[in-house]
Amino acid sequence: MLKIAVMVSGGGTNLQAIIDAISTHALKNVAIDCVISNKADAYALKRAEDNGIDSVCIRPRDYPDKDAYGRYLASFLKERGTDLVVLAGFLVVLPECFIDEFENRIINIHPSLIPSFCGDGFYGLKVHEAALARGVKVTGATVHYVDSGCDTGPIILQKAVYVEEGDTPETLQKRVMQQAEWIILPQAIQMIADRREK
Ligand code: GAR
Repeated sequence: MLKIAVMVSGGGTNLQAIIDAISTHALKNVAIDCVISNKADAYALKRAEDNGIDSVCIRPRDYPDKDAYGRYLASFLKERGTDLVVLAGFLVVLPECFIDEFENRIINIHPSLIPSFCGDGFYGLKVHEAALARGVKVTGATVHYVDSGCDTGPIILQKAVYVEEGDTPETLQKRVMQQAEWIILPQAIQMIADRREK
């Protein structure tokens, strides 16, 4: 059983996609051990609670600096025996000390086809605003391993989504979520769980 921790900052629709995939057995040999949010009012925490999943809010501002925050997160997850950390709309850049501790065991979902519209400042709706401003006809989502750079780690899965005439950042975000993110995030987790079973 792959024990995952899902880290969130907002609505948690990607968390919900993982919960649903586990409950319909589309995702096998995977258990969500806990959900961590950096925001106390994140709706994702309510989704965790509704599904009987341990959840906790751990905020950077409660620690003297980013490294102290990272060290606490790492010790928290190590104590719980976390195998894989899934960043599902987690909008805090994690410090290197955390990434080193969980090397090759952190994945992230990003709402574009990396290397387009990624890196510093590209998150959430901003990604779709930039894609529309550039006039791309195809966008999508990427699941990748997290390394010490911003959206630079090895790519695990990508899925393309067409931009449609009249799209707004909001309609494009919704379509990218529905047609790409909610599909490839559970798939990537399954790939990692399967590899571990062998
Ligand atoms: C998702 O679109 C995710 O790809 C994005 O934040 C949204 C979170 O939605 N993540 C990033 O932009 C990371 N750079 P959710 O809380 O409903 O899953």
